[in-house]
Amino acid sequence: MELEAIIDPIPLFKKWLSEAEKTEPRDPNAMQLATVAKNGMPSVRTVLLKDIINGNFVFYTNYESRKSNEILDTSKGAICFYWKSLNRQVRLVGSIKKVSDEISDNYYKSRSRGSRIGAWSSKQSRELDSRNTLMEEVKAFEAKYPNNIPRPNFWGGFALTPIEFEFWEDGDFRLHNRFILKPTEKKNQWTAKRYYP
Ligand SMILES: Cc1cc2nc3c(=O)[nH]c(=O)nc-3n(C[C@H](O)[C@H](O)[C@H](O)COP(=O)(O)O)c2cc1C
Repeated sequence: MELEAIIDPIPLFKKWLSEAEKTEPRDPNAMQLATVAKNGMPSVRTVLLKDIINGNFVFYTNYESRKSNEILDTSKGAICFYWKSLNRQVRLVGSIKKVSDEISDNYYKSRSRGSRIGAWSSKQSRELDSRNTLMEEVKAFEAKYPNNIPRPNFWGGFALTPIEFEFWEDGDFRLHNRFILKPTEKKNQWTAKRYYP
């Protein structure tokens, strides 16, 4: 990767993601999402990147889940992609907020019927007494919505707006290439600086 002093990280990220789409055995769009609770305790889990809208990284989830409670409390998060097949990593830090109802509706509509029912049926991150209870919920929502399934108001998208972007790729002898980008005043223009690996 050649370094220019000012670059837009989004085309570079998309290039790396499209390369990962060819080489990863599954879910090249999987990313580790870290959030932080009000008391400062972090937590991390995998979610799927579903879109990049105006440079914001969009994923979908249950708005009553642990991650969502933490996001709604602190608005902060971090994302890490690791593509083993390419030995590349991308890290982002930023603020997170809900996407518009329209964006969530459009994505929800694109999901399979099973996934839409699943969104209704899962009280994500809350205790479940048995698998059977979950399957009963699925059956109940199948019956309730034989045709059109509205999006639950407790389910939708969030977008992380990066304030820091890092690209890392494997180099010989652990002398990896590492660049950290910070936004400038100008839209889509970021300063890129090389860092010791
Ligand atoms: C490959 C993979 C992709 C996942 N994608 C999502 C996702 O897009 N949205 C989601 O809510 N959970 C997703 N999960 C489940 C989360 O990792 C997590 O278990 C769940 O969201 C509950 O997290 P929380 O209790 O911290 O809120 C995924 C898990 C894996 C392994």
